[in-house]
Amino acid sequence: MTPPISAPLPPDAPWIVMKFGGTSVATLPRWQNICELVASRRAEGARVLVVVSALTGITDALKQLCGEGEQDKRKAAAGAIAQRHYDLLEHMQLALPDTLGSRLSDLAALAADGPAPRGELAWQAQVQAHGELMSSALGAAFLSHSGLPTQWLDARECLAAVALPNQNERTRLLSAMVEAKPDPALNARLAALGEVFITQGFIARETHGRTVLLGRGGSDTSAAYFGALLKAQRVEIWTDVAGMFTANPRQVPGARLLQRLDYEEAQEIASTGAKVLHPRCLSPLREPRVPLLIKDTNRPELDGTVIGPEVRAHAPSVKAISARKGITLVSMESVGMWQQVGFLADVFAHFKTHGLSVDLIGSAETNVTVSLDPTENLLDSDAIAALASDLAKVCRVKVIAPCAAITLVGRGMRSLLHTLSGVLAEFGQLRVHLISQSSNNLNLTFVVDEEVVDALLPHLHDLLIGAGALRTDDSVLFGPSWQMLYGGGDIVPAVPAWWRVAQRPRLLELAAAATPRYVYHLPTVRQQAHELKSLAAVDRLHYAVKANTHPAILRTLAAEGFAFECVSPGELEAVSAVVPASVPLLFTPNFAPRRDYVRALATRASVTLDALHPLQHWGELFRGREIVLRVDLGRGLGHHEKVRTGGSASKFGLPLDQLPTFLQLADAHGVAVRGLHAHLGSGVLDVAHWGEVYAQLASLAERIASVVFLNIGGGLGVPAHPGEASLGIAALDRALREVKAAYPQYQLWMEPGRYLVADAGVLLTRVTQLKDKGGFRYLGVDTGMNSLIRPALYDAWHKIVNLSRLGEPATALYQVVGPICESGDVLGTDRRLPEAAEGDVILIAQAGAYGKVMSSHYNLRDEADEVIID
Ligand code: LLP
Repeated sequence: MTPPISAPLPPDAPWIVMKFGGTSVATLPRWQNICELVASRRAEGARVLVVVSALTGITDALKQLCGEGEQDKRKAAAGAIAQRHYDLLEHMQLALPDTLGSRLSDLAALAADGPAPRGELAWQAQVQAHGELMSSALGAAFLSHSGLPTQWLDARECLAAVALPNQNERTRLLSAMVEAKPDPALNARLAALGEVFITQGFIARETHGRTVLLGRGGSDTSAAYFGALLKAQRVEIWTDVAGMFTANPRQVPGARLLQRLDYEEAQEIASTGAKVLHPRCLSPLREPRVPLLIKDTNRPELDGTVIGPEVRAHAPSVKAISARKGITLVSMESVGMWQQVGFLADVFAHFKTHGLSVDLIGSAETNVTVSLDPTENLLDSDAIAALASDLAKVCRVKVIAPCAAITLVGRGMRSLLHTLSGVLAEFGQLRVHLISQSSNNLNLTFVVDEEVVDALLPHLHDLLIGAGALRTDDSVLFGPSWQMLYGGGDIVPAVPAWWRVAQRPRLLELAAAATPRYVYHLPTVRQQAHELKSLAAVDRLHYAVKANTHPAILRTLAAEGFAFECVSPGELEAVSAVVPASVPLLFTPNFAPRRDYVRALATRASVTLDALHPLQHWGELFRGREIVLRVDLGRGLGHHEKVRTGGSASKFGLPLDQLPTFLQLADAHGVAVRGLHAHLGSGVLDVAHWGEVYAQLASLAERIASVVFLNIGGGLGVPAHPGEASLGIAALDRALREVKAAYPQYQLWMEPGRYLVADAGVLLTRVTQLKDKGGFRYLGVDTGMNSLIRPALYDAWHKIVNLSRLGEPATALYQVVGPICESGDVLGTDRRLPEAAEGDVILIAQAGAYGKVMSSHYNLRDEADEVIID
């Protein structure tokens, strides 16, 4: 496509630097794409400087050429490299441009000469520089031919490497640094030459005029240097992913795109694991305050990540969690260390001697432990052994490896500590070797055994979101998840919630009549029920009524064919009062008094036991009965530690080591165990979980001849935060069908609560008072933790909307609080909402599950009433 011709630019037009990597310059379609992108930037009124890498594979081919001892082989290698460029030219239907022609003959001469005339390292640098020299020459020809006159610029004329005191010849030539300060003269010189330029990444010149390489991350760094020299409007790094994410998407598919970062945060994230950007390329941009934008070449419509000086105030948030593996810890113990002057100096001298750079440090009176990062050090066992033997002269040494460093990154980490209790609890169950908090208050690092990391990271990421530490509700900072952008998996459908459009007038009317009130939307309950009924692997679905016992909801689900799970005589009565007598019931109490079992046994409900006590002490009650046994599979799951109902620290389920005793007691009382049950917790979004539970229960059941069904519990999560992926019901079905095929002899039962009703309910409340205090803006509403305790109890996040001002710009940052005399009476922290006024109707979403049922009369405030919409 030929780009439209625009009017000439004024001399002071701003610059945009665009960098494209090896895969982005390797084919004709990619160059056509570059041409369009460059033309669009030019059309914005900017001068454009394109910085390119070598065609993919060429840098490696050049390195290989450098390793060849024989001239013939070097020449053949240079010939093959030239051919790659001829092939692309042919594809572009272009004649060989002079700039490329002379590069190719230079390369041929260098290959023929070999290293001798220039010296090995200088020759290598010169040979390798040809990758970029050739790709840029080819690009200049293509862009010009496509109607975008493009000047070829030799980067070595602009980027001058600085000599640093600790550099040797190798680093000076192959891993050089440039000090790039805004250079108005260069700016003016180029402006006089043209509007679109193309140059090379990765290369510069040193004081004697020799070609040098910039080392790892070279092309990105070049783009940053040019951005600084030209004081560009921005630098754009075009790559194959939309930007930086809250975690490595390969480990955490739910990781969210980070749309805005400041330089320091981005640097920290890049240094602690993210590969998309080399940490080195940010420092040149910091002082001239040139923003850097990361964009996906294949998906230019995505916003990408903008890194710049942060001007807009945001609530402090963890921005990312990363894990670096291959960490070695060296723990040094000295009984005499306390106040022993010079001990640390002695110890560190040994690290220096062995050329090892220390990353994290933890110290106690008699111990100092440090970590060595493999990206900074050549950590082979010999180097470590040599260090350890030297250190052994001054202290007792222990080497701990392989470890991994898990780092939480975010500005103002210290002010976030109170939100990290769930994460800290998780670490409490592991061996944590070292904790370190960076002195710039940007990171908090935990060093643990390497093997635990892969399983731990997705879980920690979920916990951080759940606890509101990773504020993914701030849609300015956090974009969609990787899964949503690239995963092709099940994602939250972009269907607006039922209350948003058509129901708004109705809800405003209902709120005008009375607040606070819960409103339930039965069509949403039915829709969720239909989703679950599509689970072909499931033989019987129960609704866990504890989530919401409104009679209309019970009736709706009975009509949908659901059975019911109850945990108290009260729930059994509520259900029995409204559903037909033919509908099956489950009674799954925990630490219930004897009388509850007496009552339940008088109904049709199947009774579940989860301890030895009932059979040991009330065996006669169960004689000749069929029961269900709830076991503890040794682990819990869920959106908050308080909703995890498995594992040794939870009160639920029979521990497996008591199973033989339980079965003996059952036998002794003529009790038949018909079903096994496990429910590990609430708010689980990992589809694999239920299949695992089924498989575990099935293998236990094979030892108990009387078992005919396996109840794998509820806990199906509903994403709370925008952009979070929902549970893929089709994927869940696939997983269940797979395990069921392995154990087809058992019926599969489930008992979800939240999934059916959460999205069907909202809580309507009204603004009472507004207050500015201590830098915070409080928005008071007429109910709080008495109506909805989930935010106070689990740090649960509920979307909060000013229904009276839907669509108005969200310019205020509010703490949404209720009228209860508790400082925990907070419904939402740091919410971006329109400026509010007394009387506005506030809607709290996703309140259909565990809302009204957990409410109280606390402070003798009126309870919210309940209204049904059908
Ligand atoms: N089965 C058993 C044995 C349960 O204990 C529960 C919930 C369920 C099923 C249903 O779990 P669901 O599908 O609703 O996640 N109040 C907390 C949730 C506590 C759940 C207690 N047991 C919350 O608001 O998040």
